[in-house]
Amino acid sequence: MALHRLRSITIGVPSPDAVRPFYRDFGLDERSPGRFATADGGEQLRVEAAPRRALLALAIGVDDADDVGRVASALRALGLAVEAGERALAAVEPVSGVRVELVVEPRVAQKAPPRVPANAPGDTVRVDARAPAVFPAVSRPRRLQHVVIASKDAAASKRFFVDGIGFRVSDELAGMGASFLRCSTDHHNLLVQPGPLSFLHHTAWEMDDVDAVGRAGAAMVAADASRHVWGVGRHGFGSNVFWYLRDPAGNYAEYSSDLDVIADEEAWRVAASTEVHPLAAWGPPVPPAFLAPPDIVELARGSA
Ligand SMILES: [Fe+2]
Repeated sequence: MALHRLRSITIGVPSPDAVRPFYRDFGLDERSPGRFATADGGEQLRVEAAPRRALLALAIGVDDADDVGRVASALRALGLAVEAGERALAAVEPVSGVRVELVVEPRVAQKAPPRVPANAPGDTVRVDARAPAVFPAVSRPRRLQHVVIASKDAAASKRFFVDGIGFRVSDELAGMGASFLRCSTDHHNLLVQPGPLSFLHHTAWEMDDVDAVGRAGAAMVAADASRHVWGVGRHGFGSNVFWYLRDPAGNYAEYSSDLDVIADEEAWRVAASTEVHPLAAWGPPVPPAFLAPPDIVELARGSA
């Protein structure tokens, strides 16, 4: 029937042992060394040794064997090699070198968090009681939400993911040559942006709400202020609340909540611009390190 979720990712870093504590602090459950689970999504992150930091693999959940067959045909029509079985396939995105896997698996049903009563002018629904968000609590990522990679040929990478794998386009960053792509009802599960080399820009992890983003981000920065990259703010495209942190290898990891959901293809209008800044409807100014991670010159030298 369809692609239905971003299942998992594998990231390579020069020293996994230096990076693993970051993702434990981030709220992921390290079930075995370098393998991390979210609250709702199962094992969704592997951290492996690699010469330089990079996204090595990305897996997508699909409904049935027909999806696997259809994607195998589409990839072969693009002239690509495909390892295909009945219920899974793998192919390598030729520009970035990311291995993309499809796996037949059931959809994940998420349980909604308790609805938080919030007061607003003329709508005081919480009276004679403090906000639940002021009490100590631990906020953990519910699931992997999206990945952003740079590609030396973003148009070719987009063709692979859209024409080959079957991602849908949700919005376009006009002038930047980047597209927000989805393999689920999330506004985006993948963004491929042009870059001087192919590298992993960030991974994003779904949180319950803005307080969960704020609480978890604040705890990460309280433990190590150098982790902070950008936030808290709300994106223009995707509408999600964000807070970006940096892992010890230089990959960014985003806490995200309240992302747009696209359930009806006909009802959604793909846009190439927003009335507000596409990166931030509000928030601190975009830091230069977000647009160009400080290690990309070094990464480019290493991959040359
Ligand atoms: Fe993001």
